[in-house]
Amino acid sequence: MKPNVYITRKLPESIVKKIEEVCHVRMWEEKDQPVPREVLLREAEQADGLFCLLTEEIDQEVLNAAKKLKIIANMAVGYNNIDIEEATKKGIIVTNTPDVLTETTADLTFALLMATARRILESNTYLKEGKWKTWSLMQLTGQDIYGAKLGIIGMGRIGKALIERAKGFNMDVSYYNRSRKLDVEKEFDITFLDKESLLKESDFVCILVPYSPEVHHFIGEKELRLMKDSAILINTARGGIVDEEALFHALKNKEIWGAGLDVFEEEPVSLENQLLSLPNVTALPHIGSASKATRLEMANLAADNLIQVLAGEKAITPVNG
Ligand code: DGY
Repeated sequence: MKPNVYITRKLPESIVKKIEEVCHVRMWEEKDQPVPREVLLREAEQADGLFCLLTEEIDQEVLNAAKKLKIIANMAVGYNNIDIEEATKKGIIVTNTPDVLTETTADLTFALLMATARRILESNTYLKEGKWKTWSLMQLTGQDIYGAKLGIIGMGRIGKALIERAKGFNMDVSYYNRSRKLDVEKEFDITFLDKESLLKESDFVCILVPYSPEVHHFIGEKELRLMKDSAILINTARGGIVDEEALFHALKNKEIWGAGLDVFEEEPVSLENQLLSLPNVTALPHIGSASKATRLEMANLAADNLIQVLAGEKAITPVNG
């Protein structure tokens, strides 16, 4: 008998077909709406495999309901939406989608850095609203990128890919990470700094650390105070790493110059979020990995993980076990 798989979002047909060849598939058919919680809980009961996105909170309640579950294939590199400890206790394999999104996410991170520094979106709105009356000396002036100091917090795959982009702009790169990466330091001639020095010295601080409770509000009032008043904070990792209340005050009081945010503490971000009212915030709707090719690769990798584990084989990219 084929194993039961539940897919929490409508996937491209080719990927569904591939899974259907070896599994009995049920799927939430809405493309742009996450599966309601009660449906997820109900569907999880019969599922041997779950294909989910970062919009699904796979917590103890879901895991307790999912008595037959063997694999959770998360279509994201981050997996803070899943209670890994509980899944591991229950013998459930969890997989993610590393590597395939590295370059695309590094592209977006650098694009957001550039857009924030050079006020690209603000300038576009300025023109379209008919405000461009003359070429003006200091109007819409931003911060230089070429030759600036870039501090990266978290030196994993995406951090490394970001260095390659920064080197093309002759940036002076330093990083902070839980453990030193001597191979990366040597390969790219970059410097390891403690957190405090990195915040004090950088023109751009890019957050690329995976979310875990230990890094909740890793950047708060104290850290923002250390940054230069001309500095820019870029976050393409997870919203919870930055204390948004503290960031709002730092930006409003011009303690730092700007922020580029692809992620928020609550997603989708509410239009009431006071960060959105600031002209020095460039905000994006969590699109780090959003290129057509990359999203398909992520979906394919998640599907392959699911199929392999349900066939009794090893997961390709497990995060536990
Ligand atoms: C991830 O994969 O964790 C990104 O945040 C979404 O693509």
